[in-house]
Formats: sequence, C-alpha cells, structure tokens
Amino acid sequence: MLAMRLAKGVGKMSEWTPSQRRAVFDTDRSMVVAAGAGSGKTRVLVGRYLYLLESGLADLDEIVAITFTEKAATEMKGRVWSTIVQRQAEAEACGEDAGRWRDLSRRLASQARISTIDAFCSRLVRDYPLEAGVDPHFTVLDPLDASRLIDQAAMEAIDALIREGDENMARLIADFGVSRVAKGIAYVYGKMRTTGRPMQEFARISSEKIRRCAEESKDGLAEEWDDIVDTLAAGGADVGLLCALDWDSPEFIEEFLKIHSTAQPVRSVVTAKELDKIAKQVREKAANFVYADMMVSTVETVVRACEVLDETYLWLRGNGASMDFAGLELAARDLLRDTDAGERVRKQIKFVMVDEYQDTNSLQHEIVMELAGDPPGNRLFIVGDVKQSIYGFRGAEVEVFKGAMDDAQMDGGYAGMEDLGQNFR
Ligand SMILES: Nc1ncnc2c1ncn2[C@@H]1O[C@H](COP(=O)(O)OP(=O)(O)OP(=O)(O)O)[C@@H](O)[C@H]1O
Ligand SMILES: [Mg+2]
Repeated sequence: MLAMRLAKGVGKMSEWTPSQRRAVFDTDRSMVVAAGAGSGKTRVLVGRYLYLLESGLADLDEIVAITFTEKAATEMKGRVWSTIVQRQAEAEACGEDAGRWRDLSRRLASQARISTIDAFCSRLVRDYPLEAGVDPHFTVLDPLDASRLIDQAAMEAIDALIREGDENMARLIADFGVSRVAKGIAYVYGKMRTTGRPMQEFARISSEKIRRCAEESKDGLAEEWDDIVDTLAAGGADVGLLCALDWDSPEFIEEFLKIHSTAQPVRSVVTAKELDKIAKQVREKAANFVYADMMVSTVETVVRACEVLDETYLWLRGNGASMDFAGLELAARDLLRDTDAGERVRKQIKFVMVDEYQDTNSLQHEIVMELAGDPPGNRLFIVGDVKQSIYGFRGAEVEVFKGAMDDAQMDGGYAGMEDLGQNFR
C-alpha cells in the first residue's frame, strides 16, 4: 500500500518499470544501479530516498545522499520537499494525522543531508575539527586559487631539490624545462591525493611495477634472443660482441643499434621488415630494463618533490587555515576510518546514496564505503553510467564504479545489480 502511494507521488508519471520498482522499494539489500542516460537513475534514487522516509526506515538526518553538483543537490531537495508537502496535503484531505509530514517539511532545509561529496566532507570535518586534525575556523579555498598555490609550491619544491643537489631533478629540468617539470609534479601530487594513499606507498608500488616490467621484458627478450641473433647474422652483422655484453649495461643497446645498422636484407633469407621488427622488439624491451634503475630513482625524486610540495602548500595555506576539496576529503576519510567520532557518525547514518557514481575517485569511494560500513548490509545505494564518465575529472576513474559493479555481482548476499534498461527522454 505504502509502495503504491509513493509510486503515485514521485515524478509526473505514476509508473515505475519493474526494474525501477525493485531499485526503489527493495530496501533489504544494498544495490548498484548501472544504467544508461535517461533511464531514471536519479528519479529512482529520489524515489528510494522518499520511501525510506515514508516507511519510517530512516529519519532525515539518517540518510546521506551525495549528488554530483550543488545544482543537483538543490533540485533533489526541491523534489523531496514537494513530495513531502503533497503527502501532508493528502493526509489532511483524508483526515489522517499529517503531523509527521509537517514535521519533516519543517526540518528538511536544516537537517537533510543532501549535498555534493565536498560539501558533505566539509560539514563533517567542521563538526569534528579536533578529531579531524583541522583548524576549527578553516575557510574553503576556491579550486582555482588552490591550483595556483599548488603550482607555486611545485616551483618551490623544485628549487629545494636542486639546492639539495638532487641529480635526477637537475636532469629532468635539463630534459624537459622547469615549467613542464613543475606541471608534471603538480599533476602527480593531485593524482596521489585523489587515490588517498600515502606518497611513499605510491613510490613503492611504482618501483615494484618498474622492476616487474624490467624482469618481464628481460624474460621476453631471452625467449626471442636466438631468433634475433640468427636474423642479424643472416643479414651479415657481426654479433660476437653483442652476445658477450651484459644486458643491463647501457652499451648493450648502443651495440645492438650499431650492429643492427650493418645488417642488410638478403633475398629469400631475411627481409627488411624482419630486421625492422627486431629493432623495435629489442628497443622496447631493453628500454624497460636498461633504464629501470634510472626510472626508479626518478620516481623517488618526484615523490620526494611531492612531499616538499605538500609541506610548502600547507604553509601557503596558513598551516591549514584554508583547506581545499582534496584536503577536506582526506581529513573526512581519516576521521571516518580512524577515530571514535567517525564510528559514531557511521552508527548515526543508516543509508548512503550516491548519484553519478562513474565520476567518483578512489578517495571518495573510500569515504562512501567508510560511511556505509563493511559489510554495508542494506545501507548502500549507488547509481551511475559507465558511458557517461568524465575521464580524469578530479581523479575520477570509471574503474572505481566498475569495481563497485563487480563487488555487487560477486556477493549477492548483500548487494544487487540493477540495469534500468529503457531511456525515458
Ligand atoms: N518510469 C518512468 N515513467 C515516466 N518517466 C520516467 C520514468 N523513469 C524516468 N522517467 C523520466 O525520465 C527522465 C530521465 O530520468 P532521470 O533523470 O532520473 O534519468 P537518469 O538515468 O538519472 O539520467 P542521467 O544518466 O542523464 O543522469 C526524467 O524526466 C524522469 O522523470
Ligand atoms: Mg541522473
């Protein structure tokens, strides 16, 4: 009965499709809705929000709804408000008790937690400044100002490393010029923050990847080596010295290129195409292991520069008197993950709903999962569309949404996947 009444109230048209109905009313489990543009994802999310209120499963301040923009948050509040007002009128017309609706409409503006993730984090951190380790009177930096300060801090980090005599930094600047290096460092810094992982972990993982790739390239080359030597020899090259050289030495690739240039196609024995192919094979593979040490130490230098950037950026922001969005998200994640206050917040929130999940980055995903708890039971509801992801927007990775879809499919015990199908626009 309740479901039927709600179905009438949400949106102009009265019907839900069967899959929409499941997404709105099946509140026994968490759900990931992955569906195309105009299929009703946002409408369903609002419908479920209202159903949670209407059925008494949660009160206003027990549901966190995350939208992508401020405008979407305002629209969603508007839709919730008009439905509540409609319910109040319906109850009054039927002579039923409209007290609950009157109460909800009065409290909606101040108590509903419908906002962007940044606004949610800002509010959370402001509520618990001590626990979050932030200045209680912090102001929020405009993203453009934040990026200007990060660029300035990147330049200062480069200066600091040059003063320390860092040879990798000197080489990077000689190769690419200072402004491109500064841009690169600022970019890596931004990326690292949106993954939410410590910088040293990033250095460790990158170095491991480089080493692994070097080993794989070496193994691959070893498999092809006999054929490569035969092809060069068939082309008339003297391969003696090349075969004696250690593959890790920089001379190896130089000698290979020298020898290769002396090899010539020989009719019906070796073609120019085959010779080109081995040049490409060896160059690509050898680069991965010959330069592995240099790449590892360059990663270490870049991460060290990011650490100096971070300290300088903090100082430029008056030691945290002003915060940027990524900083607020990091503080919110730490608060939720590591503190008793975070535990209290998690207990207080019964349901977490997120729209446009394809544009969520790893750090934001962590915040959502911290809020929903592990396992999330029936508390989590996320909707998105893989096809609509704005690649790289503030570190957004469509892989984050795809990961959530996989999780939902793997564990039917607490989660479900729903595809709404048709487009209503
Ligand atoms: N079952 C339905 N009956 C009638 N209209 C519907 C139904 N479901 C959705 N709509 C309408 O279709 C339009 C698109 O819905 P909505 O904005 O919720 O889609 P969406 O999946 O969130 O789209 P996007 O991917 O662009 O965010 C809206 O006008 C909505 O009211
Ligand atoms: Mg939508």
